[in-house]
Amino acid sequence: QSIIAIVPAAGIGSRMGADKPKQYLMLGQQSILAHTLDALLSHKRIDKVIVALHPQDQYFKQLPQAKHPKLIQVIGGGERSDSVLAALDQAMQINANAWALVHDAARPCLRHEDINKLIASLKQYPQGAILAAPVRDTMKRSDASGLITNTVERALLWHALTPQFFPISALHNNLSQALAANASITDEASAMEWAGVRPGLVSGRVDNIKVTHPDDLQLAALFMQQAQ
Ligand code: CTP
Ligand code: MG
Repeated sequence: QSIIAIVPAAGIGSRMGADKPKQYLMLGQQSILAHTLDALLSHKRIDKVIVALHPQDQYFKQLPQAKHPKLIQVIGGGERSDSVLAALDQAMQINANAWALVHDAARPCLRHEDINKLIASLKQYPQGAILAAPVRDTMKRSDASGLITNTVERALLWHALTPQFFPISALHNNLSQALAANASITDEASAMEWAGVRPGLVSGRVDNIKVTHPDDLQLAALFMQQAQ
C-alpha cells in the first residue's frame, strides 16, 4: 500500500501570538515544522510528503527539508480542512489509490512507533483510523451558566490526535462534499463520520501534543529532548 503524508502547515498561529507562524518557531536545533517533516520524510513506508503552505509563506524555503525529493508543496486555504483538501487534490494526481496520512505541522513530537501502529491498524480498520489518547480526567458537562449538569462516562472518551489515516479517494470525496455542505469539519475523521464511515481509534503516545499556546513550547522541547 502506497502512503502519502499530508501536512497542513498554512496556519498563522494566532493563539501562540508569536512574531511568525508557530510552525516556524525553534524547538532545540530546528523549527517545529522541520521536526515534523523529519519524522515523516524518514519513514520508509511514506512515499511522498505534501505540505500545504500559506500563500504568503516566507519561511518554508529556508528549511533544510525544503528540497527533499519526497517533498511537494501546495498552497493551503482559509481553514485547516481547506488546506488538507488542497493537498488531497495534489495527492489524487499522484496516486488516487494510495492512503493519506494527515498530520498537523504543529505536532513535532511524532514518533515512528505511532506511525507504525496506525499503518498496522489498516488490517483491523480497512475504513481508516486515527491516533487518539484516552481521556484521563473525570469529565463534566455543564450548562451555559457553568454549573455541572452531569459526569460523562470517561471510558468512552478520547482526544483526537494526528496522524489520521484514510484512503485518499474516499477522504477527498467526503471532505469536499462535507465542506460544500457547510458541515463542521475539524479533522479528517469528522469528514468520514459525516459520510457515515466509522473510523477506528488507535491509542497513541501522549507526548504527541499539538503546540498551540506559548506554554506548549516548553513541554514539546522536553518531549523532544527525551526522544534524542
Ligand atoms: N492549518 C492549515 N491551514 C489553515 C489553518 C491551520 O494548514 N488555514 C494547520 C496549522 O498550520 C497547524 C494545523 O493546521 O499545523 C492545526 O491547526 P492549529 O493548531 O489551529 O494552527 P493555527 O491555525 O496556525 O493556530 P491558531 O488556530 O491559534 O491560529
Ligand atoms: Mg487554527
